[in-house]
Formats: sequence, structure tokens, C-alpha cells
Amino acid sequence: MVTAEIVIDPAAVVAPIDRRIFGSFVEHLGRCVYDGIYEPTHPTANDDGFRLDVVDLVKELGSTTVRYPGGNFVSGYRWEDGVGPRESRPVRRDLAWHTLETNQVGTDEFARWCALTGSELMLAVNLGTRGIEAALDLLEYTNHPSGTALSDQRIANGSVEPHNVRMWCLGNEMDGPWQTGYMTADDYGKLAARTAQAMKAADKTLELVVCGSSGSNMATFGDWERTVLEHSYEHVDFISCHAYYQEYGGDLGSFLASSLDMQYFIETVVSTADHVGNKLRSAKKIKLSFDEWNIWYLEEHQQSDEISDEWLVAPRQLEDVYSVADAVVLGNLLITLLKNHDRVASASLAQLVNVIAPIRTEPGGAAWRQTTFFPFSVTSRLARGEVIAPRIHVDTYSTKRHGDAPLVDSVATVDRDAGTAAVFLVNRSQTESIEVTIDLSGLAMSTVTEAVSLHDDDVYARNTADDQNRVGLVDLEGAELSDGRLTVTLPPVSWSAVALA
Ligand code: AHR
Repeated sequence: MVTAEIVIDPAAVVAPIDRRIFGSFVEHLGRCVYDGIYEPTHPTANDDGFRLDVVDLVKELGSTTVRYPGGNFVSGYRWEDGVGPRESRPVRRDLAWHTLETNQVGTDEFARWCALTGSELMLAVNLGTRGIEAALDLLEYTNHPSGTALSDQRIANGSVEPHNVRMWCLGNEMDGPWQTGYMTADDYGKLAARTAQAMKAADKTLELVVCGSSGSNMATFGDWERTVLEHSYEHVDFISCHAYYQEYGGDLGSFLASSLDMQYFIETVVSTADHVGNKLRSAKKIKLSFDEWNIWYLEEHQQSDEISDEWLVAPRQLEDVYSVADAVVLGNLLITLLKNHDRVASASLAQLVNVIAPIRTEPGGAAWRQTTFFPFSVTSRLARGEVIAPRIHVDTYSTKRHGDAPLVDSVATVDRDAGTAAVFLVNRSQTESIEVTIDLSGLAMSTVTEAVSLHDDDVYARNTADDQNRVGLVDLEGAELSDGRLTVTLPPVSWSAVALA
């Protein structure tokens, strides 16, 4: 049997866990909002029209911050359309997804939905078709307590307390030619700096995210970050990263090693940001907000006719049905985010419901968990305290897209106050079980409290509307702790978690 050795040294602390690493994303896109979180005629809907069965699944998923309302959608959005009496809200065309937006859900309703789910609202402002004034107005509307035109308008609309939004995205993917109003790095950097400066004049405690690259494959990758930060460094706190992965042409080996690209992406953005900061002799370090990451079969969607010439309300768009392999990759991407948590301080799984999402719904019907739900929910629940970077000794295999990839990847967390720890592991081998010995003698744990795995003999098994529970967590057999050494046997193409106390 293939074997691997892992050493977990409690001194190898990456960072204390900031719960924002388990954020997600709700965009006005397809059926994410309408017929997703919001369906007023559904039997479980509350007075706002939100489905409470979906609320329960979001809580179980354990997502923390929720980025809203886009995505590409935000670059044409007029936030004023989504507040006030619902019956007088305008219907508008959304050019990003070629649909009709009814504005029945807007900022106040979404803030209430966040409160229902226990999530923190993270907003994006429109720097595509709009600019500084609209951003400042939205900030006044959401965050000013009372006694100004826009805060009093919010109060009159029923939100007496300010929403107190802390994290703000300065536009979305402004490097992408598909973005409404996309710009050069120079133009965007100047606009982002001026917008940030104005927003911080209103509230210097805001945390502002400037747009980084839409992917590590963008021709401007690296140069974009450098130029944008040269303009905005002292005014912003985060730079965004977006990355989506998929299996191309049956090349499962490369797909299972997707996190190597995420690692390259993070290292490149960190070194570019630090280059700018050092050049400016700044004492500040820019953090990364990985505010879109997931598996997305983008090419298949581009070849479909789901972006219709007609103007439809909430059509089915980007409704990927995820396999076991997809879930294993997603679990591995989350391991990578945790391993880089000293710089990746915030992240958003894109997206939350129906649209490339861990949760699916049918109108009037059920809500269920996709395969990708499981590694996210277990990691969010068990990862507590501090992240520890393990030393991993294991063979590699060769991939077409990412070079040599280790067969096993892993990260650990330890909560010294609670006396608990967790280890998250991925086996990328398509054929071999791997026996892993983990030296965690420095953690002083005495028992395994939980050991679960996401694995199936059919790596393409999925949960569907007709078979919603086909794939779920299974027990990770034979996890044993003795004399500070944990042994586990990881099945091929699997993600696993072991909790200890
Ligand atoms: O999440 C789907 C889309 O992906 C978002 O709207 C956009 O920001 C990205 O290209």
C-alpha cells in the first residue's frame, strides 16, 4: 500500500482562524436569489418571502460572511431600485446575465436574510456604470445611524438599526472584458483609490477590497495587481482573487491537483502586493480576499443556450451538479485557503444556492445538499483555534496542467483552549488507498471524536433532484490514535476529516 507521513508541529502556526475564511456569495444571477433563497409562495417561506428550509441548510453549511449582490450583476446595479415599497420597485434589464431583475429583493431584505442565517453582510459597490457618489450613498443608507436623508429613508423603509456593513468590494472583476464598464488597471486603480478615500472619509474603520485578477490565466495577471495597488495601496485593506476550476477532457489527475494553481495564485498576489508595499516603504500588509472560488464547468455553460436572447426572470443558469471528484477538489481548495490564512484573511465560496452552489432547490419543492456541501460544512464546523501547517512526506504524480503533485494534501487546526484539534486530508490518487501516519504528539490529544470521509467508488456520483441523498459522508474506517500517532487509511479520490480531543 502507498504510505505517507505527516508531522503536525504545534509551533508551525499559520494564523488564528478568522471565521470570514468560510464566507460565501449570493448574486442576483439565475435562481440564486429568486427561486433560491427567496420564494414567497413556498410552504416554508417567512413574511419576507425567504425559504426557511434553505436558511436551515445555510446554517448547517456554516458559511459566515455573504458577499452581495454580485458578481458581474453589480456592475450595472442601481441599489436604489431595491429599497422602499416592493410594489413600486422598477423591473430592469441585467446586461451581465441578460435577464430581467424585478428588485423584489434588495439591500434591506438581504440584510434581514443575513440576520436569519447568522451571516455577516459584505457588500459590493458598482464601479462599472456608476462611481463614487452612488457608493457613498449606499454607505450612508446602510451604515449611518439616523438623521440624514438616506439613513432616514432606510428607517422609513423599516430598517431602524443601521446594517453596519464592514467589508466592501470596490467593484467586481474590473479587469474582465465581459464586465460592464471594464477598465484598464490604471483607470481602475485611480477610481478605486478615490472611491476608497471617500468611503474612508465617512468611516475610517471600513475594510475595503480592491479588485485583483479574475483568474491566474488573465493576460494581465500580476501587472494588474501591481498597477492597481500602486494607486490604491494606502486606501485599501484587501485585494481580491477569483478562481474557478473544472475537469478538462477527462483529465482527472490534473483536476485533482487544482489547488496547486490556487497556491501559485496566492503566492503571486502576495509577492506582488509586498513588492508594491515595500517600494512605497509602507508598514501595512495587504490581505487577500479570495472572494470567488469554486468548481465551475464554465466551458459547458458557454456552449449551452442558457443565456437566452429573451429577457427572462430568474432562468436556470450555471446550475452545475457536482460529483464526488468535484467535492474532493473543493475540500482541497479549502485546505489551501487555510494553509495561506496568514494572508488570505477572507474568502467566499461562489455561490451559495442553485448557481454553482452547494445547495440546490426546486420551486415549491425540496432543498438539498450537493456533494460539495459536505467538505465545506465539516471544515467550517471543525476548524477552530489556529491553523497549523503540517509537514507532508509523500510521493508525487505527474499532471499535464500542474506539474508534479503530491498524492496527499492536508492541513490541521488546534484549539488550545478547548483542547481539541482537527486534521483535514485529501487523497488525490485515482487507484490507491494511502495509509497515512500522522505524528501529532505535540498536541497532547487522547482520542478520535469523529472521522468522516467523502468518497464513493463512482467518483462521478452526484446528488440530483431525483436522488438527493445518493452521496453523503461516510465513516473513515480505522482511524486510530496511539502514543500521539494517528493512523488513517484514505480511500482513492477522497476528502477526509478527523477530529481529536
Ligand atoms: O460567480 C459567477 C461569476 O463569476 C460572477 O458574477 C463573476 O464575478 C465571475 O466571473
